[in-house]
Parts: sequence; structure tokens; C-alpha cells
Amino acid sequence: MKNIAIFASGEGSNAQNIIDYFKSSQTAMVSLILSNKPEANVLNRAKNAGIEQCIITHNNFHESGQIIELLKENEIDWIILAGFLWLIPENLIKAFPNRIINIHPALLPKYGGKGMYGMRVHEAVIEAKEKESGITIHYVDGEYDKGKIIIQVKCTVEPDDTPQSLADKIHMLEKQYFPKTIETLL
Ligand code: GAR
Repeated sequence: MKNIAIFASGEGSNAQNIIDYFKSSQTAMVSLILSNKPEANVLNRAKNAGIEQCIITHNNFHESGQIIELLKENEIDWIILAGFLWLIPENLIKAFPNRIINIHPALLPKYGGKGMYGMRVHEAVIEAKEKESGITIHYVDGEYDKGKIIIQVKCTVEPDDTPQSLADKIHMLEKQYFPKTIETLL
């Protein structure tokens, strides 16, 4: 059985999709949920699902290395970033080479980088009058949204789409493709 840790900063709908998808799996399970925001809804989801959770602080993430210890203690095999806002430190990337995956709600390399998160991404896509957007699932390296791309899936952006309606389309793609792609990688 492979152990998955999810890092998330917000609502956690992707985390929920992954929890649900692997609930009855024979190959993997979500064993740990980590968030840098104590008030994030993803932590309620962890509690409801009976999954161990941990708050990430600057100290335990960057300085003391406690997060790496916790991941090792829980025999974590894969780290999934599902709406996680912080850059991943180099020592964590080294501890999990090619084992950290992120989802981005646009077609990278466009609309990525620091500060490009959630609704801001969709606002920028609508503002630029793009005809298509989509999701990118990629490996994580030391920079924001730069690691090797695993899969991209596109959707059309209609002239009357708003950031919210585009976000809804993207969430549907995320639900359809993210857990399945993780399963393939395992
Ligand atoms: C998702 O759409 C995810 O792709 C995006 O944040 C949202 C989190 O939603 N990630 C990024 O923007 C990363 N730069 P959720 O908390 O409901 O899963």
C-alpha cells in the first residue's frame, strides 16, 4: 500500500476528490493532510475523513526539517500539492525526488508563477480573452509551476465565461483527471 500526503492551503475540493477516489483502493491511501493555514477547510475534510493532519509553519517547513521527519515516520511515498500556496523547499524536493506532484488550473507555462493561484489565474485568462484554458499536472521542482509536465487537459473559454464559470469548468476537469493521473503514476 502506497501512502499519499496532500498539501493544501484552502477549500480542499481536490483533496476531497483524492481522498474519495482512493478510499476503496488496494494500492494507495491518503495518510496525511498538511496545511499552512490553520483555518483552511481542507483540515475539516481531513477530520471528517479521519485522516491525520498537520499545520505547516515556517519553522517546521524550512528550518527544523520536522515536516520531512513526519513524512518519513508516516512512510509517505507521494506528496500531492492540491492548491498549496508555498514554495517547496529544496531539502523536501531532494527527500522525495520525482515524488511531488502539483496541479495548476491553467495551461502552463502560461498563467503560472508566484502569486498565480486559484481565482487570480482565471481572472487573468478571461482578461486576456484566451480561447482555451485547462489544467496542468506536473512534477514539482524548486520554482513555482516550472517542473516537468505530466499531462495537460484543455477546455474552451467561451466569450461569456466569467472567472467563476471558468473556475467551475476547471474544477470539473480536476475532478475527472487528477486522482486518475495520480493512480497511473503510482
Ligand atoms: C485548484 O483549482 C488548483 O488547481 C489551484 O487551486 C485550486 C484549489 O482548489 N492551484 C493553484 O492555483 C496552484 N498554483 P481546492 O482547494 O478546492 O482544491
